[in-house]
Amino acid sequence: MSFSSQRAASLPAYAMARVAAIKRRLLTEGRDVIDLSAGDADFAPPEIAVRTLADALRDPAMSRYPHQVGLPAFRDAVARYMERRFGVRVDPMNEILPLIGSKEGLAHLALAVLNPGDVCVIPQPGYPAYLGGATFAGADPLVYPLTASTGFLVELDELPADRLERTRLVYLNYPNNPTTAVAPRDYLERTVACCRERGIVLAYDNPYCEITFDGYRAPSVLEIPQARDVAIEFHSFSKSFCMTGWRVAWAVGNADIIAALSQVKSWLDTGVFLAVQRAAAAALDAAETIVPGYVEGFRLRRDVAVAALAEVGFALEPPRATMYLWVPLPEGVASAELAERALEDEALAIMAGAAFGPAGEGYLRIALTVGEDRLREAMTRLQRARERMEVHR
Ligand SMILES: Cc1ncc(COP(=O)(O)O)c(C=O)c1O
Repeated sequence: MSFSSQRAASLPAYAMARVAAIKRRLLTEGRDVIDLSAGDADFAPPEIAVRTLADALRDPAMSRYPHQVGLPAFRDAVARYMERRFGVRVDPMNEILPLIGSKEGLAHLALAVLNPGDVCVIPQPGYPAYLGGATFAGADPLVYPLTASTGFLVELDELPADRLERTRLVYLNYPNNPTTAVAPRDYLERTVACCRERGIVLAYDNPYCEITFDGYRAPSVLEIPQARDVAIEFHSFSKSFCMTGWRVAWAVGNADIIAALSQVKSWLDTGVFLAVQRAAAAALDAAETIVPGYVEGFRLRRDVAVAALAEVGFALEPPRATMYLWVPLPEGVASAELAERALEDEALAIMAGAAFGPAGEGYLRIALTVGEDRLREAMTRLQRARERMEVHR
């Protein structure tokens, strides 16, 4: 007997949860696990966030229900950041919404803007919460395969006319996880134009906008004129502030979309812990002094990992953004098999490209979560796993 709903049962096991469960088993067996699976770096969170949180815990007002309004000071800090960083002015009360991590906001957005049967464009490989949201909303998910030959961009005009007609929501994510692709400005302009013309909600998932290298600067989609007519953008403290477990993020953009998301959330959750909002606001006000240190750390790791990979026969261009490497595999090497061998035989957790959907086949995703020495060791283990695969064949 199964108690699962059809919608829950229609989704596969969440790939990251499966890797985490195997990792737990390996650790109990006493294995020395190197975990490069989730985008969860081992850098300490910002000192100002830790200190502010510790103080806030002593203030009883911080222990009350946050509701969706949350802490006005958090909204103000977000508005200041959006203006400083992107030159985008937003109304803190109507165009910003605090989130319990961007994952829930991205998934709940589907419940807020889609009716059953509406088409929702989902890039693949991509962040799995988009498919989760569209599925639970009873929508019609249109999986769009991302390919290297087109810069891993989603071109809405290429969709079949009848599906484009029914499209109500598109998720875009640049700098992209897992492919590390970035979006040129003219791409954003034509995508915004298409969404405006057709009344499509543009969900721009932007948690990696600060993790960029070699002079590249990632934009906000709200920098594009009139994007605010259709766009909602998602930002997170998880990556650029190394605060994954704190579960704090924000949505910003079109006031109607924000209101619809807030309505859904008000029935499902009661907001982000106020003490965490206070701490996050303090970190955000100091973004310009905090973030560059983390970015430099990721750059060092990127360079070491790319060089170590080249030495063991996996060549790739250093990415211009994100905390990942999207590593092309030699012809005929199945990503799931290599990731499985790496995990079981070498206690090295990495993500198979196929874990992000069939369109991710042919790649591995490596997250730059540990220091340089461990990354070098990881690549040696990866080489051994691959050699073992060849022996088995
Ligand atoms: C593209 C993308 N969006 C959203 C998230 C969710 O981040 P969080 O829920 O921690 O804010 C992640 C995390 O890996 C991600 O890679």
